[in-house]
Amino acid sequence: MNIEVIQGDITTTAADGILVGICEDAENLASSATDVAVVDKLMGGAIKSLVDAKGIKGKRNEVTVLHTVGRLPSRLVAVCGMGTRDKISTEAIRDACAEGCRALRKAGCSSVAAGLMADGDAGLSSSQVAAAMAEGAVLGLYTFSHYKKPEMVGVESVSLLVQDANDLTAVRDGVITGTALAEAANMARDMVNEPANYMTPSRMAEIAVELGAQYGFKTTVLDTEEMRTLGMGALLGVASGSAQPPKFIRMDYRGGADTSATIGLIGKAITFDSGGISIKPSQGLEAMKGDMAGGASVIAAMSAIARMKLPVNVTGLVPATENLLGSAAYRPGDVVQAMNGKTIEVISTDAEGRLALADAISYAVKEGLTPLIDVATLTGACQIALGNSYSGMFSNNQELADRIIKAAAVTGERTWQLPLADEYRELNKSLIADIKNVGNRYGGAITAALFLSEFAGDVPWVHLDIAGTSDSTKESGVILKGATGVPMRTLYEFVRCS
Ligand code: BES
Ligand code: MN
Ligand code: ZN
Repeated sequence: MNIEVIQGDITTTAADGILVGICEDAENLASSATDVAVVDKLMGGAIKSLVDAKGIKGKRNEVTVLHTVGRLPSRLVAVCGMGTRDKISTEAIRDACAEGCRALRKAGCSSVAAGLMADGDAGLSSSQVAAAMAEGAVLGLYTFSHYKKPEMVGVESVSLLVQDANDLTAVRDGVITGTALAEAANMARDMVNEPANYMTPSRMAEIAVELGAQYGFKTTVLDTEEMRTLGMGALLGVASGSAQPPKFIRMDYRGGADTSATIGLIGKAITFDSGGISIKPSQGLEAMKGDMAGGASVIAAMSAIARMKLPVNVTGLVPATENLLGSAAYRPGDVVQAMNGKTIEVISTDAEGRLALADAISYAVKEGLTPLIDVATLTGACQIALGNSYSGMFSNNQELADRIIKAAAVTGERTWQLPLADEYRELNKSLIADIKNVGNRYGGAITAALFLSEFAGDVPWVHLDIAGTSDSTKESGVILKGATGVPMRTLYEFVRCS
């Protein structure tokens, strides 16, 4: 799918369908987002009469597709709800554009056109609006079609129409950024949607190598022997039950000064989590192919950071392995030793993510990376606590946490901070080792984060638990059924602002 920027407007441009935004408080259409009043007038008041009859309310995610019956050069118009006018944000624009593009695709449109869906009143620059629209279109039209033909004919082009020639450059810049981000998020979605018999640790490593060559970062893949030499006993413990060789993927991007610090992004990549000997119930187990979503978001973020040539230094680390069971598998009660020397008593082989991350975080600390952001589908408890819209966030540094909150507010990827409660630290104490990998029944997301914090030490660190947010059973705005790509865009935005 191609996004082009053209000088013109929707009254003269012929596309199969056009998008216009409408606000919730827009009895007077002229006061709504740009273009809807113009289209309404050409259509003889058709939109206005639907608004008056409460058939169109302008609420977020509402789309009404109307036939233009020859009154405009385009066949269909999708009237997209944007919520109340004073709350128009890049998020509202992204979602409206995603919903509108999907509705037009469903109606058979292969070309879509739209003017900017918000004007200066929203406090957004034309470049920000264009970026949000491009993101919305590319995210909203995503399909995963590796194993079956797509059910609908795809949208081939989305044209952003700019009336003022002075705006062209800014809009083009916005489209470049928005497209790069959404395409990277879609890459993460592809990796997560792929089944575990395809998306193995080796395949993830190959993808990291390919993206590095394409966009300009260096990928180094450590194999079992190299991990053993480094002392990554926790990660290797998890890997011991699988015939798939584990891979420790390191991606180095150097866009900043030699003297400036290197940010560490760390993503859990369990390409299938059976639970190991502490085996999971079979109901819903297929979803555990997505237990590598943290790693996928880090690989995709590295590609976007390098593609946009951000002036920063970033290293991405992805410990990738399966968690299976067999005669060589690690067992409950085993003691493993992480790279930083700490011994860990394995209470449950299903608390494997924190073991893989223990070694990855230890590695990051040893390499001097700072700050550290880890992303992991870590605990069912986090999903219970926050549901499927909010990722859990934990940090040992409030200033850093605030920067992540700020980045997430820009991307619309909901994030909620939970306490790194010191008083629960004792729940991770082991009788025979430095620490154990399970706390108790309650506060499971917190004890998991506390476990990780032992490996980050004093280095400013944030942990994002995406167990509830990495995939979705519902479709809404830029979120589709299946993998979400969360929190790739937040990682990017955080790095961009660093
Ligand atoms: N990958 C799971 C967490 C998970 C659960 C992700 C649901 C996505 C959806 C993780 O490895 C796990 O199994 N965690 C256990 C920890 C427990 C054994 C302490 C859990 O949450 O039950
Ligand atoms: Mn598990
Ligand atoms: Zn897991």
